[in-house]
Parts: sequence; C-alpha cells; structure tokens
Amino acid sequence: MDLYEHQAREIFEEHGIVVPRAEVTDSPEEARAIARRLGGRAVVKAQVKTGGRGRAGGVKMAADPAAAQLTARQILGMDIKGHRVGKVMLAQPVDIEDEFYVSYVLDRAAGGFLAIASAEGGTEIEEVAATRPEAVARIPVDPVKGVTSAKAGEIAEAAGLPPQSVDVLVRLWQVLVREDALLVEVNPLVRTREGRILALDGKVTLDDNARFRQARWGADETGHRDPLEAAAAAKGLNYVKLDGEVGIIGNGAGLVMSTLDVVAGCGARPANFLDIGGGASARIMSDGLAVILSDPDVKSVLVNVFGGITACDAVADGIVQALETVRLTRPLVVRLDGNNAARGRAILDDRAHPLVEQADTMDGAARRAAELATTA
Ligand SMILES: Nc1ncnc2c1ncn2[C@@H]1O[C@H](COP(=O)(O)OP(=O)(O)O)[C@@H](O)[C@H]1O
Ligand SMILES: [Mg+2]
Repeated sequence: MDLYEHQAREIFEEHGIVVPRAEVTDSPEEARAIARRLGGRAVVKAQVKTGGRGRAGGVKMAADPAAAQLTARQILGMDIKGHRVGKVMLAQPVDIEDEFYVSYVLDRAAGGFLAIASAEGGTEIEEVAATRPEAVARIPVDPVKGVTSAKAGEIAEAAGLPPQSVDVLVRLWQVLVREDALLVEVNPLVRTREGRILALDGKVTLDDNARFRQARWGADETGHRDPLEAAAAAKGLNYVKLDGEVGIIGNGAGLVMSTLDVVAGCGARPANFLDIGGGASARIMSDGLAVILSDPDVKSVLVNVFGGITACDAVADGIVQALETVRLTRPLVVRLDGNNAARGRAILDDRAHPLVEQADTMDGAARRAAELATTA
C-alpha cells in the first residue's frame, strides 16, 4: 500500500528526518487558517497517491492566507492522473538551494535492497535516469547489514550528495525497516540557503504482508481507483480492468493470462482479466458477467474454461443461471474443455441463447471473440 505524502511526512518526522511544518485539510477555509498558523505563505499540495503533482498543477505557492484558501479551493477536487484530490497539505515554504533524490527500494532480482540517489532531484528520477544515467547512483544494500553511517557515506559520495545528507540516509533506512516498507523515496531532499537538509516530498510503499503490524494506516481506500475494479472487489472477484474490447472470463490465473495473449494474437485487445478460480457458481458467473458487461468498451465476451476440479457442466449451469439475472447485451463465446466438457456443451446447446455460441478450441474461441469485437 502506498501512503499519502502527509503520512510519509509524519513517519519521516518520527524518525528524526527534518520536514517542513505542515497540516492537512479538506476545506479551503481551514486552509486559510493553516496558512496563517504557518506564518502566512504556504505551499498548497494535492494529496494523491501519484507522482508528478507539481507538473499537473497540484503543488502551488500561496503568498498569503487568502491566496491559500483560493488555491486550496482550486486544487481540491482536481483530477490528477485519475486520482481525485480529497485533501491538501499546506507546508511551510523552504528556500531551496539544491534538490536531491534519494530512495531505497526492494530489488527482488538481487534479493536485497537498492539505494538510488542523485544530486539532480526535483524532476522525476526516471527522466534523469533516461537522459543522464551517469547522474544516478545505484548502490546495493545488504538487507541484514543495512545502511550504517559508512554505507550512507558511500551512497552520498557516489551520488554527489552533501555530507549532511548522510544522517538522513541512515534515518531513511530505519524508516524502511521499522515501518515494513518496500520503498521509501524523498524527492526532493533539499539543501536550504542556510545549509539545512529537509525532506520536501515523500513516498512510502508499505509491504502488505506486514499490514497486521502497521494497522495505524488503515485500509487502502484508493487501492481500486477504477470503479469497475472496486465493484468487482466488493463482490470478491479477481478482476483487473484493461483497455480493450474483448471481455475475458477464465478459470486459473495462468489460463486467463494465456487467454489474454491469444486474444491479442488475434488482433483484438482484452478488456479485462477475470479469474473465477475453482468457482463456477451461478453467482460468480453472473457477478463476473455483470461487471464485464457494465464496461461500455466491451464488444464481445469470451469464457475460456478448462475443466479440472471444476467440471464443465457446473460452469455451463452457472452460465445458464447467470443468463437469468444478467441481460446479455453482447455476444458471448464459450470454450469448454476438460472434465465433463461434452455435458457442459450440451447444456449450453439446450439453452440456445441467440447471443451465446461455442467453440471447440481456445484458439478458435479467441479468434471468434476477436472477430465479433472488431466487426461490432
Ligand atoms: N515546502 C516547500 N517549499 C518550497 N518548495 C517546495 C515545497 N514543497 C515542494 N516544493 C517544490 O515543488 C516541487 C514539487 O513538489 P513535490 O512535493 O516534489 O511534488 P511532486 O513530486 O508530486 O511533483 C518540488 O520539487 C519543490 O521544488
Ligand atoms: Mg516530488
């Protein structure tokens, strides 16, 4: 789970990393009062779980409390890369001399962590890495030894960060370990005109496996920013929204993934991933079909089931019962194979729904679904 900037800021502060004074609100009037408390001027910052807020107009300087109120009104409700701004943080402005980038991230391939640091902070690190890779230092961190002062010195030196940042690098590692994070990132870490080092922006991704130890952050209310994914999650479906036009239902993650590939190979694009697992009940089928059909981009639906423990006749029964509750508005192509396939196919033949057709093979079914979607 990603944390909001203001939550990351709170954690940094607890671990002795210097951050600007700041408060959070969802009200423009309150924003005005906060700016007054901060001394008049304030940076108004959209609280959304995505980067590049500054560029999107979600980070603005306000010269006085009245301007802070106006700016907060402007930013609240804004849409930044699909995230609606529900809260703003007002932070005390800092006189920036230099902007740096520092982060620790889990490196799964290496079985360790990676410190990434650069003296060119402020902009997104991916851009710096793409245009000036030599400006980004990448130092492996042994998870057991962690980041000692010596290690932090090595990172700072490699990236060209000032010596004062060594202490922050050590503390940031403590944040990662104690908060069960997979990623901690400060961009920018700044040096002020007076030579102080402050974290002006923070991103922390917690390890969901440790959620029971990090209950203070509650559930992730932004985990499903797509409304269809939220509806599917509420029904307990394993659904991921994609951009295409062929709705997909299959059993088993591997089969569903290859179904997506085969559909793409037929020149169409899958509209979703939906794994019904071992469940083929009428409820799962109708819930799945309902979610898929409520996607206006879907032009055809492909059900691809290989009966193992789940028998194909149970799947066919599920489809027939789902057709009672869900109004099928687009063609449905069904491929049943494996356990009790013949009985399953007979059940669908008997139902003889005008929009349901069957195919014998996965390739044939995908080709047909793609054809129906592209000619629709
Ligand atoms: N408290 C602050 N004082 C002065 N400038 C700030 C402050 N907070 C952010 N900024 C400036 O705004 C830029 C963008 O803000 P940041 O919090 O990094 O948002 P994002 O990375 O989402 O664009 C920073 O690189 C920094 O230059
Ligand atoms: Mg930033």
